[in-house]
Amino acid sequence: MRILITGATGLVGEALTARCRQEGVEVHYLSTSPGKLVSAPGYRGFLWDPAAGTLDPACFQGVKMIVNLAGSPIVKPWTARRKKEIISSRVNSLNCLLQGLKSVETHQVRYLVSASAIGYYPSSYTEFFNEGASAGTGFLAETVKQWEQAASAFQGQGISCGLLRIGLVLARESGALPALTTPIRWGLGAPLGSGQQWQSWIHLEDLVSLFRFALEHRLEGVYNAVAPNPVTNRKLTVEVAQILDRPLWLPCVPSWALQLLLGERSRLLLDSQRVSAEKVQMEGFAFAYPNLRPALEDLLC
Ligand SMILES: NC(=O)c1ccc[n+]([C@@H]2O[C@H](COP(=O)([O-])OP(=O)(O)OC[C@H]3O[C@@H](n4cnc5c(N)ncnc54)[C@H](OP(=O)(O)O)[C@@H]3O)[C@@H](O)[C@H]2O)c1
Repeated sequence: MRILITGATGLVGEALTARCRQEGVEVHYLSTSPGKLVSAPGYRGFLWDPAAGTLDPACFQGVKMIVNLAGSPIVKPWTARRKKEIISSRVNSLNCLLQGLKSVETHQVRYLVSASAIGYYPSSYTEFFNEGASAGTGFLAETVKQWEQAASAFQGQGISCGLLRIGLVLARESGALPALTTPIRWGLGAPLGSGQQWQSWIHLEDLVSLFRFALEHRLEGVYNAVAPNPVTNRKLTVEVAQILDRPLWLPCVPSWALQLLLGERSRLLLDSQRVSAEKVQMEGFAFAYPNLRPALEDLLC
């Protein structure tokens, strides 16, 4: 089997590519950076420029399924230009893939699974969000709505489509966890805001398994990609500090300070989304790390 991955050089993409190659799945990938193109047995990179709407059509050769992970990072400052780039990089990537498929004479692509995000949901301390919940308001929800709409366009071309609304990905080397652990290692960690906001997290290994599961079962429609047991920000901070054997003595970082420092981007830290994993579990997916403590022990010890 051969699949095509976009965003294969990122945190999730690298781990998914490694798993696919281990399992004998051939990977073609699209990258915006010529320096990241590699050609090895069962692993070959192709260049694309989603903003210009161009790609190397050879990337589709022998491909039956596509995993879409491409998108400009959301953690950098949200200037008006950056916000436009965050949305357009995601929408353009999907449009570019679809136009590329339409432009080749024949292809065998029948399935697309795309990353999406739990930023779709409103912020709430009390709600437990499943996939049927309505979208929230603000920049993140708007981004996800446009992203998911662009992915849905594949269905009109006879390509079934799955969307994984990803939560906070916990990984050893990069992403949210190193950012959280660094101040705690220095003895300067503290919960953020009230500390009561829900964080729906997922271990990188489970997320990779979930993408493999989606490909294997051709999951259609929206699925939350979060562990079954979300925690509050306070609990996450306390668990990390306990595992690292570091003291937590500072008071919570006040919301106003984060808002002053980060502006609207503080929503990435202060929004509360308690998100359900039930739908994907009902499909038969089993999490290796359903609970936070063993996940953190695996990643930090
Ligand atoms: N990590 C999380 O906690 C999390 C949570 C929710 C959702 N997600 C979503 O899941 C996807 C994968 O996450 P990740 O953490 O692996 O992301 P990542 O590490 O930032 O990697 C994303 C990849 O997208 C490509 N890219 C960057 N800018 C681009 C642009 N302007 N146009 C097209 N491609 C571009 C890059 O690949 P090249 O340089 O090779 O082109 C990059 O390696 C992302 O879409 C992200 O928004 C992640």
